[in-house]
Amino acid sequence: MHESVVTKGFSAPLKGEIIVPPDKSVSHRSLIIGSLTKSNIKISNFLKSADCLATLKILEELGCKINFLDENTLKLDASNAYKTPKKDLYCGNSGTTMRLLSGLLSAQNIKCTLSGDISLSKRPMKRIIEPLSKMGARIKSNDGKAPLVIEQAKLSGIEYVSPVASAQVKSALLLAGAQITESTTTVLEPYLSRNHSERMLEFLGSNIKTYQKDGFFASTISHAPLIPKNLHVIGDISSAAFIMVAACVIKNSDVILRGVGLNPTRIGIIEVMQKMNAEIEILNKTLRCNEEIGDVRIKYSPDLKGINISGEIIPRLIDEIPIIALLATQADGITTIKDAGDLKNKESDRIASVAKELRKFGANIEPTDDGFIIDGKNNQKGLLNGDAEVECYHDHRIAMMGYIAGLISKKPCKINDFEWVETSFPGFLKIFETLTRE
Ligand code: S3P
Repeated sequence: MHESVVTKGFSAPLKGEIIVPPDKSVSHRSLIIGSLTKSNIKISNFLKSADCLATLKILEELGCKINFLDENTLKLDASNAYKTPKKDLYCGNSGTTMRLLSGLLSAQNIKCTLSGDISLSKRPMKRIIEPLSKMGARIKSNDGKAPLVIEQAKLSGIEYVSPVASAQVKSALLLAGAQITESTTTVLEPYLSRNHSERMLEFLGSNIKTYQKDGFFASTISHAPLIPKNLHVIGDISSAAFIMVAACVIKNSDVILRGVGLNPTRIGIIEVMQKMNAEIEILNKTLRCNEEIGDVRIKYSPDLKGINISGEIIPRLIDEIPIIALLATQADGITTIKDAGDLKNKESDRIASVAKELRKFGANIEPTDDGFIIDGKNNQKGLLNGDAEVECYHDHRIAMMGYIAGLISKKPCKINDFEWVETSFPGFLKIFETLTRE
């Protein structure tokens, strides 16, 4: 299926309120960590996107029973988890599925194979294979890439200093460690990456501790039976980010986004937008299932300025960099993004794909080894000529970045293979229809 979408050039203002779609990272974890309770739980506001449905199908293959009670609420019965699967466990495009399940399944007494699509099969898996192998896991790979064959093994805990601040690496080790009784597992990371796993495990009564040690962010875990509690998934700030940036750059826009996850490890985008002079406000903040949640109001912001983005904030906005790069093309002056070399390992090489696709619109963007230099000056007041044909390289966030660029272009643009948006944001186009309907 190859669907393309055409934008008509300058969009009408975005106005009104929407509820943002459920969070992809938390939806994966609700099923994976939920299954560790080995009981019945209800999960509400689950994201029915291609990535999360890949995790769901795999858990069914592993013996879980899952029934939808309505569009986004499901019942998970994990009392029979985890059975030897009859076929390969297909993770599709989803790195989170493959890496988190590798951790979970390494500690199970079953043999299984995790496979993925073309994009996922090119992504590095050594970052989880190495530490899991140190714990005793037996994982065969295709030279550090998928498919991964996991065999029966007995694991013991280790202390692991992760060279990258990666929530997927950290979560894989914690999910293995959560099943080990005789020893503890500690993961240390240089900067704090998203901590949804730690928070959900803690919410379900796991034996997990988070703290700082020698300048690192540490989590230590060992086995404890989890308490089967119902889970609610917060709204996805990474999906909200596309609407936030669109509202910020489309003249006369004023939008309220309801139910946005505001976990401090995810709100780098809000901090960056505030620093760039965006008119953005947080309302009604509260805590739900151990996660901050609230509403975000964002208005058209004509006085954006370029800033430098690097260091500890990078893991807190890593998935938002494509849309931040687009935002920077609309700011006065230069924006630099550094320390983001891991962008090369996402669904596409996002340093190459973001620069290549935004240049098609006429943006002044230089890719570097670990980020970008973006000069917004010449593009003020309406990006770009448009007339671009965007490729998305199996990468949902490039497709959505291309669409928003189209909304602030002078001429129509075409975004090819737009179906990739289904990876994280089903209903993306409908939201723009709703917000432009006066
Ligand atoms: C994710 C962690 C991040 C992020 C990805 C989702 C997660 O990846 O980019 O989209 O759910 O744990 P890394 O852990 O590789 O940085």
